[in-house]
Amino acid sequence: MNNASVDEQMLLKALACAEGFVGRTAPNPPVGAVCARGETLLGEGAHQGAGTPHAEVNCLAQCPEDLSEATLYVTLEPCSTTGRTPPCCELLLKRRPRRVVIGCLDPNPRHAGRAISLLEAAGIRVEVAKGDIAERCKRLIAPFAKAITTGLPYVRVKLAMTLDGYIADHTYRSQWISGAAARDWVQHLRLRADAVMVGAGTVRHDHPSLQPHLEEAPKKVRVLIDRTARIAPEDRTAHTLVATEDLGYDGEHLETPLRALCKRGVNDVLCEGGGRLAAALLEQHLVDELLLVYAPKLLGDAAAVRGLPVAPRRLPEAITFIPFERLALGEDTLLCLKPATAAETPLEQPRGTE
Ligand SMILES: NC(=O)c1ccc[n+]([C@@H]2O[C@H](COP(=O)([O-])OP(=O)(O)OC[C@H]3O[C@@H](n4cnc5c(N)ncnc54)[C@H](OP(=O)(O)O)[C@@H]3O)[C@@H](O)[C@H]2O)c1
Repeated sequence: MNNASVDEQMLLKALACAEGFVGRTAPNPPVGAVCARGETLLGEGAHQGAGTPHAEVNCLAQCPEDLSEATLYVTLEPCSTTGRTPPCCELLLKRRPRRVVIGCLDPNPRHAGRAISLLEAAGIRVEVAKGDIAERCKRLIAPFAKAITTGLPYVRVKLAMTLDGYIADHTYRSQWISGAAARDWVQHLRLRADAVMVGAGTVRHDHPSLQPHLEEAPKKVRVLIDRTARIAPEDRTAHTLVATEDLGYDGEHLETPLRALCKRGVNDVLCEGGGRLAAALLEQHLVDELLLVYAPKLLGDAAAVRGLPVAPRRLPEAITFIPFERLALGEDTLLCLKPATAAETPLEQPRGTE
């Protein structure tokens, strides 16, 4: 293997290390690291949660003392400032690998490039990845990057719809529009989120747990977006935040509860409906990704619950989207869209349901 493909393979390994902890590291980003001498792996590690050692620390703890012929690969630029743990740059200056390959720069403009200057000044060669692998490293931390640069979490809205755009029948029954494979996929989405959010209408009709079903999964923040604080006591289960009571929501400007969530360390929000909340988020330009699961069904009932009841517009004023992925989920079809006005980097969809 030539050097470039060794670098790419090693960064892929580092990405795989980080992947296992997506949805567990907030407010920190998921990060993975591997250390290798040529093609020989010396150590690997990931950041496993806020307040615990960073990926570089866990990786280098497995490595032999002498790293003079080794390269450290890390998906995100090493930290150069003291947070809850000492800066990783200090450790690298002490352990002195011959080379450091970075997947992407620190998205915080105040820190970006600092580690590179510090390491290079000490005679350690630093390279920053380019192309597809660099994009994958950026996608991995897209929620963290959005949170750190805007104070808002990354918002994905997921809805299961009939072909004619309904999310429940006229009796408000929505179980089940989509099939087992799609419902399985939603579990993966929940695992990757820091918080799962729904509107008060969905709370009243479905009483959803919003937690991943996997027992060992960390509990997610459960966010209920109400206007009138009419959330019944039985829906106020553990880890629940009610928008009007806990997040300063005025019933209209959804940016306020989202900013409040970000301040509480939530970088990544999964909104699981219902239709009116999803439409309001779209109208207020707060959606990063719209994930629509189309079930091969028709209801043909104008009294059924509409999926995205945005205000009526003429074609030139239509809300437009850029599709970035289409997947078969059993009998259903997942369509992933980015509002045409949203930021650059959609997240990778979790696989493993097909
Ligand atoms: N197929 C699916 O993927 C899916 C997913 C979720 C839900 N559902 C179904 O969808 C139905 C509920 O959806 P829905 O559209 O009626 O309700 P919804 O979007 O879940 O909730 C609407 C409620 O949210 C509150 N709200 C707060 N701020 C709002 C804002 N800015 N804009 C709009 N609402 C705001 C209001 O609560 P207050 O009334 O307290 O003021 C409003 O009545 C249920 O039948 C459920 O089973 C289906």
